[in-house]
Amino acid sequence: MSVAKRDLEDNRKVTTRRLIEMKQRGEKISMLTAYDYSMATLIDQAGMDAILVGDSASNVMAGNATTLPITLDQMIYHGKSVAKGVKRALVVIDLPFGSYQGNPIEALSSSIRVMKETNADCIKLEGGSEVRESIERILSAGIPVMGHLGLTPQSINKFGTYTVRAREEEEARKLISDAHLLEDIGCFSLVLEKIPAALATQVASELKIPVIGIGAGGGVDGQVLVMHDMLGINQGFSPRFLRRYANLAENITHAVQSYIEDVKSGDFPNEKEQY
Ligand code: KIV
Repeated sequence: MSVAKRDLEDNRKVTTRRLIEMKQRGEKISMLTAYDYSMATLIDQAGMDAILVGDSASNVMAGNATTLPITLDQMIYHGKSVAKGVKRALVVIDLPFGSYQGNPIEALSSSIRVMKETNADCIKLEGGSEVRESIERILSAGIPVMGHLGLTPQSINKFGTYTVRAREEEEARKLISDAHLLEDIGCFSLVLEKIPAALATQVASELKIPVIGIGAGGGVDGQVLVMHDMLGINQGFSPRFLRRYANLAENITHAVQSYIEDVKSGDFPNEKEQY
């Protein structure tokens, strides 16, 4: 069904429950990151199912090499801006590094701040059995949790590289067991990042909750990309899994250069562009 047709028929708010129903009827879930009001408004109006305020904001908005430096206050700032622009999509906010791993009480208070201050629908966090108590505590307060396994960028200093995860049997077995654990304790959905497609397909077929992939092949229940990558704003990042839908870096550079030329030549503003 085309996006336009679906929008006419169904512009109800997307909830965690509706994502599960989408999996049940075999409808793929679309998710994209956003970090500000204007882009979130456009992405929502285009018909996206879920908008992730990812901690990738640390990379694409703040210019950091990793996701580690971004703070809870900064994630709340981005989350609040995004939620203001969204009417239909499910808004998911990443808990940043250091805001949930320490202990369940800290995890709960970080999640409560996110929910109270941003008006988002749910949170996402990275990890499996290591963060089980934190997830259970957050869920006990009625806050929906999306899990994230595979390449978990907050652990980059442990991995040492952004290469494909879970190629080896032991890591694949742990990932499958963590995926089941997350479903069993009550996560409503799961992101799988940069793992072999066959493994992701197996996990998606074994779980009842929707599995959303990034670099995890087409056998999962939905896809997520970082907005700056898919719109071609961030040109220095070209992993195999990325499909570019625009080349905004080129468009923006041309537009800015034309503006500079017009200012320098005195062509801008002309008589119609002044009072
Ligand atoms: O922070 C982020 O953008 C993410 C996606 C890559 C899934 O977690």
